[in-house]
Amino acid sequence: MNLVRRDLKNLAAYIAGKPIPETQRELGLEKVYKLASNENPLGVSPKAIKAIQKALREINRYPDSQSFYLKRRLAQEFKLSPNNFVLGNGSDELIDVIIKTFVENNETILTANTTFLEYRIISKVNGRRIHEVPLKDFTYDLEKIRKRVNNKTKLIFIANPNNPTGTYVNKKELINFIKSLPAHTITVLDEAYDTFIDVNDFPKSVEWIRNKNIIVLKTFSKAFGLAGLRIGFAVAKPELTQYMEKVRQPFNLNSLAQAASVSALDDRIFLSKTKKNNLTGKKYLYRELAKIPVTYIPSVANFILVDTRLDCFLVFKQLLKKGIIVRDMKQYGLDTFIRVTIGTGEENKSFISALKEVIMNQKRIN
Ligand SMILES: Cc1ncc(COP(=O)(O)O)c(C=O)c1O
Repeated sequence: MNLVRRDLKNLAAYIAGKPIPETQRELGLEKVYKLASNENPLGVSPKAIKAIQKALREINRYPDSQSFYLKRRLAQEFKLSPNNFVLGNGSDELIDVIIKTFVENNETILTANTTFLEYRIISKVNGRRIHEVPLKDFTYDLEKIRKRVNNKTKLIFIANPNNPTGTYVNKKELINFIKSLPAHTITVLDEAYDTFIDVNDFPKSVEWIRNKNIIVLKTFSKAFGLAGLRIGFAVAKPELTQYMEKVRQPFNLNSLAQAASVSALDDRIFLSKTKKNNLTGKKYLYRELAKIPVTYIPSVANFILVDTRLDCFLVFKQLLKKGIIVRDMKQYGLDTFIRVTIGTGEENKSFISALKEVIMNQKRIN
């Protein structure tokens, strides 16, 4: 008997970065570095830890379903109103909420073909059609995407910076694109990595939410170091957020997450250390990668896409044996690429030394 929806039978599930304990268990390794999920290598903000410890005493209660204090703090941070925000169990959940809220059965979704895989997976799980447009020079090709927009296009997902390439679309390109869209289309600007930006022409897209059909997504999982607690937020005009509020689960943001994120926003020292570590690490990795027979795509985020010119799964496996977890890019169709998160100084050094060995060994074999 066919119990499962037919359109889900061949769905390729999301493959997450391999966890450290799993790698230790499987390979009998003690020291393992994870550079696979673009998490914060400096750990957790001390202020957030204090807030979690305090909030622990009240986890017998349901969380505040309105996340009053976090919305108030975000409103203050962005000079907006609390009703401009919708909170999610990670921005992953908000992608789902957005599709459920806005896309009718016969409407379609547009994005790039090498981008965050959840746009594809969540669209399909919701029974919605998604069209994927090839990148140009590893960057979103807004011109081509614009040409694919028609009267059925409801949503456009743009990861800016893009994952896994680390590239970005600049302010001018993006605003011209958004201005050119028909009134029935909503653009989702997924800015999970915006905190790491080190260029001047990156868009301040939150300033556009009043007058445009856009939803800006941000997360506490990356620079704010709270990936394990699952906190993301959407910023948009109330005409959009009020309906997303009806679709999200009432207690989607747990009380520890609410407490931690307010304090993480206040911890400017931790954030500034995080940014500094990323810039220093990026410079080091660029310098060292240039000495190995590989190429890389310059990144404005906290990860780098590296073309090893070898089978990426083989490189991934060999690095794993040396206690370094990276992400092989097979599921993105980039068969010779790995994506590495910029880590601490020690992690970056260990990665480079392991990669050198793997590449040299393979060259000898070949
Ligand atoms: C572009 C992009 N958007 C969203 C997410 C999901 O983040 P969250 O942890 O908030 O669900 C990620 C995580 O890797 C990402 O790369």
